[in-house]
Amino acid sequence: MVQVNNLFKTYKKGFAPALSGVNLTIQKGDFFGLLGPNGAGKTTLISIICGLSPANIGTAYMNETDILRYPEKIKKYYGLVPQDIALYPSLTAEENLRFFGRMYGIPGNTIKSEVDFWLPKMGLSNHRHKKINEYSTGMKRRVNLIAGILHKPSIIILDEPTVGVDVQSRVLILETLKEINSKGTTVIYTSHYLEEAEDLCNRIAIIDKGRIIKEGEPAQLIAQENPCSNLEDLFIKLTGKELRD
Ligand SMILES: Nc1ncnc2c1ncn2[C@@H]1O[C@H](COP(=O)(O)OP(=O)(O)OP(=O)(O)O)[C@@H](O)[C@H]1O
Ligand SMILES: [Mg+2]
Repeated sequence: MVQVNNLFKTYKKGFAPALSGVNLTIQKGDFFGLLGPNGAGKTTLISIICGLSPANIGTAYMNETDILRYPEKIKKYYGLVPQDIALYPSLTAEENLRFFGRMYGIPGNTIKSEVDFWLPKMGLSNHRHKKINEYSTGMKRRVNLIAGILHKPSIIILDEPTVGVDVQSRVLILETLKEINSKGTTVIYTSHYLEEAEDLCNRIAIIDKGRIIKEGEPAQLIAQENPCSNLEDLFIKLTGKELRD
């Protein structure tokens, strides 16, 4: 479970606060979508939840552990699939995954069996010895995903995991996340694809300008806000058409 209360965050060079009093509760087993326009504060909130960035004010807990005080203690609970690809370009897919496996403290033979399971599942068996800088974007995203879930965390946090990938890669990534979630893993993800989020998430929060402006079950939120027929309608109604920086 993840719980944040009254989080405020201003970057040193930032003019406006990136987060302005965010409250959020994510329950065990949720498939939770954090949705918002560019610059809304999604990545900032994720980096605080993962203990990678401090907040100015507020509290944040993961499985009852105080994230802001003990960021090292929560690392065992979650796997992060970051917005920017976090792989070593000059290493092969297999070398990258072995590196991440060792970093998570997974025993060598378990790393091997996990890598042998995940590379074919992600359609990469023929490319395991190819360097990441020779991969297409979709292939990199698939390896980025494996790197975040290799150690079987109880919470998986993904920042725009399907951005820039083809339909085939997207379907595979989303089906994998659905499958993992159906076995009890909590999934927290950000996306700009609202149809995708409406289909996948049991709960969503819409964030804009550092504030959560709506939170709940997608179908209920859509039904409450007449005349909205889908999540995209609701999103536009709540956040408007003005472009963000
Ligand atoms: N390192 C930084 N230094 C200064 N300002 C930052 C930094 N990172 C983010 N910001 C600012 O904080 C705000 C929130 O940014 P954030 O990256 O969290 O948004 P986001 O919702 O993830 O956007 P996107 O959809 O574009 O990924 C923005 O105004 C952004 O310009
Ligand atoms: Mg972001």
